[in-house]
Amino acid sequence: MAKSIKRIAICTGGGDAPGLNAVIRAVVLAARKRGWDCCGIREGFNGLLLPERFPEGGLIPLTRDSVRGITHLGGTILGTTNRGNPLHFPVHLPDGTVEEVDRTDELIRAFAMHEIDALISIGGDGSMTIANALAQKGLRVIGVPKTIDNDLEGTVATFGFDTAVAFATECLDRLHSTAESHNRLMVVEVMGRYAGWIALHTGIAGSADVILIPEIPYQLDKVAAKINERDEQGRNFSIVVVAEGAMPVGGSVSVIGREVGRAERLGGAGEQVAAELQALTGKETRVVVLGHLLRGGSPTTSDRLLALRFGAAAVRALEEGQSAVMVALDPPVVRYVPLVEATRRMKLVPLDGDTVLTARDMGISFGD
Ligand code: F6P
Repeated sequence: MAKSIKRIAICTGGGDAPGLNAVIRAVVLAARKRGWDCCGIREGFNGLLLPERFPEGGLIPLTRDSVRGITHLGGTILGTTNRGNPLHFPVHLPDGTVEEVDRTDELIRAFAMHEIDALISIGGDGSMTIANALAQKGLRVIGVPKTIDNDLEGTVATFGFDTAVAFATECLDRLHSTAESHNRLMVVEVMGRYAGWIALHTGIAGSADVILIPEIPYQLDKVAAKINERDEQGRNFSIVVVAEGAMPVGGSVSVIGREVGRAERLGGAGEQVAAELQALTGKETRVVVLGHLLRGGSPTTSDRLLALRFGAAAVRALEEGQSAVMVALDPPVVRYVPLVEATRRMKLVPLDGDTVLTARDMGISFGD
């Protein structure tokens, strides 16, 4: 029988996503209902690992009052980071080099010192891997999946994705009229890391003519042929959605930065595609990089609801004595999947799935 819970901690890690605050609210309300105290760790695990950064304390007490009116707010009231992975914590050495060290044992001691009985860790694949490592060291941990990229295995959806797609689709709607007025080619780059979910859903919903995703390496002569064909039909403009992780056949992803202790930064795919398409088609071309705009703002109703359901389900999991699991959407229910399963591989767009087939049936080109 698991030890009874008196106090839990919540942390948000990795890039923010609309819906994080809704999870925090649901966790705190459900935990308080059970008589548990809650605290939030500031900026991922930095609140416990870098006390000098937080003179006022790295832990924030979370009460009903502190989570009032936050469901609709983007970002996270706890702060987050994608540089503080305790498994590969960057340490700056006097000679100017940076070394990565495993600080998970220190974290476990910090949880004990602060009398924290369990952790609810909200994050993407990196956060779920950390959560699993902490669970293996004896901490009671429940993971809550978050990412606008929708690339987490084990759950049909993550909150943040719907908001990102809704905003990107609105942008495509706006770009149509200006593209048409100027007979231009508009290339729109969207986030999504190595998965094409955002590009695919946005491209279909926003009536793009071409969608380039990492799962389908592209050939730009095929894209140019599609654009020329539209011109011949009197459709003198085209919209091309490019996932930031898209790559040409035989090529590689476009990277703009690599730093110790964090994932490589993708970027430049849209510029590359636009320059080559302008040369191939002779059409005046403009690039719009939606970037972090996709991560900001208020979560959609669907993301709010998913986030609230995930938060409450995480607390129920702890009450049931579960650990080392991630809450997951498996419509119509929320269930629990082992963290090891959730982190085994990235969830990519299935090429034989009906969403890709829908796009093909509608004449949208993938550049293949
Ligand atoms: O994983 C979420 C995400 O927004 C990706 O789509 C993107 O590649 C990355 O984070 C950007 O990270 P950063 O905020 O560090 O630039």
